[in-house]
Amino acid sequence: MCGIIGYTGTEYAKDIIIEGLSTLEYRGYDSAGVALGGDSISIYKKSGRVSQLNDLIPNSFSKIGIGHTRWATHGAPTSRNAHPHLSFDGTIAIVHNGIIENCDVLKKEITSRGITFQSDTDSEIIAHLLALEDQSNMVQAVENVAKKIEGSSSFLAIRKGDDNIYCHKKNAALTIGIGLDGNYIASDMLALADHTKKGIVLSDDETAILSKDSVSVYKDGVKIKKQLIDISCKPPKICPCYMQAEIDEIPTALQNTYDSFYSTIKKECIEDIKKAERIAIIACGTAYHAGLYGKEVIEILANKPCEVYIGSEYDRARFISSKTFAIFISQSGETADTLAAVNRSKELGAKTLSITNVANSSITFLTDYALILEAGPEIAVAATKSYNSQLLMLYLLANELAGKKVDKEVVKKLAEEAAMLSTHSIFTESMAKDNLFFIGKGIDELSAMEGALKFKEITYKMAEAYPAGELKHGTIALMDKHCTVIALATNEKDKQKLTVSVSEIKARHAKTIGISAVGEIGCDISLFLPKLSDPLLYPILSIIPMQLLSLSTSFHLGINPDKPRNLAKSVTVV
Ligand code: F6R
Repeated sequence: MCGIIGYTGTEYAKDIIIEGLSTLEYRGYDSAGVALGGDSISIYKKSGRVSQLNDLIPNSFSKIGIGHTRWATHGAPTSRNAHPHLSFDGTIAIVHNGIIENCDVLKKEITSRGITFQSDTDSEIIAHLLALEDQSNMVQAVENVAKKIEGSSSFLAIRKGDDNIYCHKKNAALTIGIGLDGNYIASDMLALADHTKKGIVLSDDETAILSKDSVSVYKDGVKIKKQLIDISCKPPKICPCYMQAEIDEIPTALQNTYDSFYSTIKKECIEDIKKAERIAIIACGTAYHAGLYGKEVIEILANKPCEVYIGSEYDRARFISSKTFAIFISQSGETADTLAAVNRSKELGAKTLSITNVANSSITFLTDYALILEAGPEIAVAATKSYNSQLLMLYLLANELAGKKVDKEVVKKLAEEAAMLSTHSIFTESMAKDNLFFIGKGIDELSAMEGALKFKEITYKMAEAYPAGELKHGTIALMDKHCTVIALATNEKDKQKLTVSVSEIKARHAKTIGISAVGEIGCDISLFLPKLSDPLLYPILSIIPMQLLSLSTSFHLGINPDKPRNLAKSVTVV
């Protein structure tokens, strides 16, 4: 959520900050802003996209700046609420990623001093609080402010007449990039990729001061030594539609995930999972759907009881203990709800494993073991290739727990079939008008859930996933000629039941489209999946036509699928 970037060095800051914001735009794109520092602070901000902001900013000689691309939490996505925010005395500008939970109390305290807020945001509080601190010791000032704030809050601040950037990390990620021409800080390493390969990942409650030629990190007022790490990552290539490109990359992603699993999985991790009494999988959104698949394959192949929790509902998990092994799935490795679940699991004594797509992300740092998907950067807001890779990673893990190594040829064949499927479309124009249902039985119901989520995210249309056999217990009342039903059938034992469900739906005049690995199930149109060595692998393929049909519907409706309304990649607020 929200992208933030800062630079102080020998180069002009404006272009560096704007470029960084363009890379970060996928994290939030309702408004954006830049503060350029030096003898004075100039702020430029605008609702809308970074490209529009760029047109607003005159050329500047400033060599220090901070920038922000926003996903609104407090206050509408207007220019007034866009970051950076300036302190009441005009001396401090801040950008913030997170939510200030005690916002009302702090706002009251600040207004009682006669200070008027210029925005509806919670973030503006930070600028005023900093300006009210004794600034002879900025580390102390930043730490004092951070202590007053409850909730997640990573922020950057610059001061009038000062070339330093003051930074604090709490929950939302911040990585410092050490460059030859100066120092950088960003919420996402991708924004640093063009500038440096060396960096420092801040941990919670750490404060950093960046000058043009030095970086110091503090915790509780004491300067600490931080490890310099390799933060190099491939910046994503510019392309007209990231979601399309990312679906096209599924075959490569799958093969990379296979290699990554076998080169990283630790024996001790497998032993710890085997020793555990129960497995808990925790994730959000698409990653949660991958988790549901994980439960299936782990229970079926490894015969181990497994529960799956949505990150934000994990406080309801009542039996987490040292006898639990907790697995966290997160493309970004930064999702706040999943991160909170990692912390809770650790407090309760569980051993932990993360499956993420971003090495050096917060979740990978916190868990005992980490597996990286290596699917390549995912920029489109709707997750695609990372989901296919998550399913494969869980399949490989379940096999490993069962003492079986999956042959590379199996994944090579899967990748070839995935490439073939990317060329098939089941889109029909009626989908852009109809109510959509995605149905399946058993493991196919999980794929249906992901299919429906994809459709909702990038078409803004109602779509529902349902267990095929459950329709007749109520929801079939909705079926009429204005419905299109996507029916999934990948398991021979469910073929008969799916065929019956399809005929019940057709009797109510709904249109039916089948995605089947078991031959004809009576749909109006069918896409037949190729034969695979293990039916448990089908969800990795069957989701592709659904990803594509969502994409085609999105295009048909004139929606930009890469940046759907109200959403942002990497949800770093709870
Ligand atoms: C859906 C989507 C979201 C994410 C969810 C978790 O297309 O992208 O539902 O899956 O916000 O994000 P990660 O996987 O980064 O933890």
